[in-house]
Amino acid sequence: MKSNRFFNRDVVSIKDFQRDELEFLFEKTDKMKKLNPKEKDELGKARIMGYLFYEPSTRTRMSFEAAMASIGGSSIGISDLKSSSIEKGESLQDTVHVMDLYSDLIILRHQLDGSSKFAAEISEHPIINGGSGSEEHPTQAMLDLYTILKEKKKIDGLKIIILGDLKYGRTIYSLLYGLANYDVEIILVSPPTLQIRQESIYGLKNKMKIVELVEMDETIIKNSDILYVTRIQKERFSDPQEYEKVKGTYTIDSNMLKKFKPDISIMHPLPRMDEISRDLDNTNNAVYFKQASYGKDLRSALLALILNESPL
Ligand code: NCD
Repeated sequence: MKSNRFFNRDVVSIKDFQRDELEFLFEKTDKMKKLNPKEKDELGKARIMGYLFYEPSTRTRMSFEAAMASIGGSSIGISDLKSSSIEKGESLQDTVHVMDLYSDLIILRHQLDGSSKFAAEISEHPIINGGSGSEEHPTQAMLDLYTILKEKKKIDGLKIIILGDLKYGRTIYSLLYGLANYDVEIILVSPPTLQIRQESIYGLKNKMKIVELVEMDETIIKNSDILYVTRIQKERFSDPQEYEKVKGTYTIDSNMLKKFKPDISIMHPLPRMDEISRDLDNTNNAVYFKQASYGKDLRSALLALILNESPL
């Protein structure tokens, strides 16, 4: 058996994980799904997952909690800042320090870039980045890659459109860093004011083909295998008028869908606003809710691997 390089490890950036490590995690996720509840229970028994969510969350927090419960562990945490001492002005440093005393690993979501890296320096126990500013969301990218693999049976050779707020969307940065391990073609499509931050993808263009557009064209639409859509990150705009200008500028609906390859997979990290019309939800192309479900599976495997030296 390959050694478990996830044991006791922080998950701050997906850049820290090589392709063979990601593939190890995907194999273990498949294996996790086959275990019976009793076998799973052994993996997290008497262990505590702490979570600190300084920003709103539905899927990340709930799927981590569900994942921890599914391996027999329990969770404690803060998601309502008003009911904690953060409201009184307690620093991130002290809050992480205390959570570290009470738990075996910590999931952190915070509005600042670098917050998870900072927390990992303070905490004795592993830190999992559940979203750091507009910088990264590594476990979302892990589950996105796993979803692509499940849907398309491969990642190499695919053409992937990433559409939306590429300036502030942290999930797409982690996704791009993760995809850089594979032989893929990327088409980035965003309104001109929401284009990718060049400094954050520095070096990626040597690793894979990246095309940047402000609108999709016929050839791209016809040839792509995946359409990954993101919402406009309203909360990160310093000027609300700038948000008003781009709001509602792209929507994928059933008319638009007809123009794509019949088997295109449409992904979205969720929450969705108006960028994917609800009439796509019951099509075979809509993968976004499956993605949320895979998220729980992958996070169960990730927690088991971090908490146990040879778990699965
Ligand atoms: C994303 C996030 O928080 O970055 N949500 C998630 O974890 N699935 C995406 C978003 O908020 O748009």
